[in-house]
Amino acid sequence: MTIPDNNAIPEMFSDNLGATLICTIEARAHAGDDYRIACWNDDEAKKVWQRLTVLAEQSSIDLNDYVVAEKSNRAGTIHRALCIDRQIREFRRITDGPIQVVTLGVGLCTRATRVPDIKDVTFFGIDRPEVVATRKAVMPEDPTELIGASVTAPGWMDDFAHDKPTCFVAEGLVMYLTADQVRQILADIASTMTAACWFVSDSHHSRVIGKGQRKAEITNKTGSVYTFGSADAESMANLGGQRWQAVSAIDTMGPIGPMHRAISTVFRLLRKAELFSVKTIAFQPTGAGGR
Ligand SMILES: C[S@@+](CC[C@H](N)C(=O)[O-])C[C@H]1O[C@@H](n2cnc3c(N)ncnc32)[C@H](O)[C@@H]1O
Repeated sequence: MTIPDNNAIPEMFSDNLGATLICTIEARAHAGDDYRIACWNDDEAKKVWQRLTVLAEQSSIDLNDYVVAEKSNRAGTIHRALCIDRQIREFRRITDGPIQVVTLGVGLCTRATRVPDIKDVTFFGIDRPEVVATRKAVMPEDPTELIGASVTAPGWMDDFAHDKPTCFVAEGLVMYLTADQVRQILADIASTMTAACWFVSDSHHSRVIGKGQRKAEITNKTGSVYTFGSADAESMANLGGQRWQAVSAIDTMGPIGPMHRAISTVFRLLRKAELFSVKTIAFQPTGAGGR
């Protein structure tokens, strides 16, 4: 199989990394039904997938060429999304007044309509301009305020409030970045925000990534390789420096099924950490009151 390079990726997805959004929206549209995942409810994802299919067909693009069909990817996408929804609810619960949810690499994320129970929240979504344009075409009524920028370039924090408690979400993103890029993102937040923040991201354990780049089925489909992993929430917090503290690392591989549960259990016994988890770390600015 030929691994697609950036030139082979349709412009509507920007590049190799942008093409990975096809897998996540496909999973949110169909994997809940396919694997009978209780409490998954995302009708908007189904509509977005249909509109994206029509848009892609107009350019003779077959989205299925980019979809990873494995259960671990598709069901795993749902379990991490459910986990991140719960983390945002928890941030909402412990925070007074209005909050922001700022999603880095928002792709076609449907969270803003999936969690109407979360009140007094403004959703922002950051992605590269080509992806933002595609998102506007297939999600014209979504309330997420969109910012066309790269989170690895200066200026990505210019267009939302810095004095509002903020839950930053990086869902399906940090595994494609380098450790230096993740460190810089956490440093940008720490040097800019004047309110309490959480940073919620999903990643493999660093042992899975090893020292180099890890190819996977997503590499065959999109050309993207895994480049970052983190052992636990403490390691993530350490990457950010002194002002960040670990909150939790929640296994989202075990819920996929019995085989995945067995693998994640054995890994936990051997490594005292999760194989794949949603990691939450907290930032408290100097002088800010916390609860
Ligand atoms: C696997 S998709 C996940 C999309 C979305 N978070 C979801 O869960 O459906 C990864 C997304 O990150 C975006 N992305 C990758 N690198 C980025 C960067 N440097 N700045 C902004 N977005 C980026 C891609 O364009 C893509 O939309």
